[in-house]
Amino acid sequence: MERIPEPELMEEREQVISYDEADFSEGEANLICQINYYLLRKNISLGEKDLIVDLGCGPGNISEKLAIKWPNTQVIGIDGSKEMILRAEYNKNISNDQKKLKNLRYICSDIKDIKSNNFFKKKISLLVSNSLIHHITNLQDFFDTIRSLSSNFTVNFHKDLKRPLDEKSVLELKTQCASKYNEILTNDYYASLKASYTFKELKNFTLENDLSFLDVFEDGDKYLIVYGNV
Ligand SMILES: C[S@@+](CC[C@H](N)C(=O)[O-])C[C@H]1O[C@@H](n2cnc3c(N)ncnc32)[C@H](O)[C@@H]1O
Repeated sequence: MERIPEPELMEEREQVISYDEADFSEGEANLICQINYYLLRKNISLGEKDLIVDLGCGPGNISEKLAIKWPNTQVIGIDGSKEMILRAEYNKNISNDQKKLKNLRYICSDIKDIKSNNFFKKKISLLVSNSLIHHITNLQDFFDTIRSLSSNFTVNFHKDLKRPLDEKSVLELKTQCASKYNEILTNDYYASLKASYTFKELKNFTLENDLSFLDVFEDGDKYLIVYGNV
């Protein structure tokens, strides 16, 4: 099935509210476990000197979980949508875990505008994204950003949807989504599935662009993960 790009930023208020109100906690907890497992395997422990950056942070669900899991680090969530960043700030302020989120802050910026690791005072130890890659129209932009933000000790961990094989599979997933979530979110999910990349597209991109130290793997039948050190 051909890829159909969708708008990069999620800027419409109703879209932002629908996304924010949905419960993705199971998948989010799973992502934190996967990152933790990877760091443990590499014998990496994160502390005061470390900076974690969450690209395309949306309403901050993953950023908050990163800040709580690694309380001594500094965590920065970045999103190009003002509505999303407002929502992320709001969620942080009303969180029951507010005291545990003092190490977290947000920046509103398009990821394509932060192509230098001098943007941050510290080098990034862990560079994360969840459900971002499919929004990026050109893969080159995503990989250029992570390459320029990474130093040789930056661990990258990026998880996203995998594009289904055909329209029938997309419609099946859409129906499953509609049984749990509202119409706006269901339509966004449908567009996202069509905008997602395949394993082959991501893998080939890394091989053809001198990024073979990044690995790509399929996580179940719905997700892809790009990880490793740039
Ligand atoms: C599907 S949401 C995922 C949010 C969050 N990572 C999560 O897992 O809940 C994708 C987010 O990426 C943001 N985004 C897309 N393209 C972007 C870009 N070029 N620069 C910055 N943010 C971007 C969108 O605005 C949106 O908030």
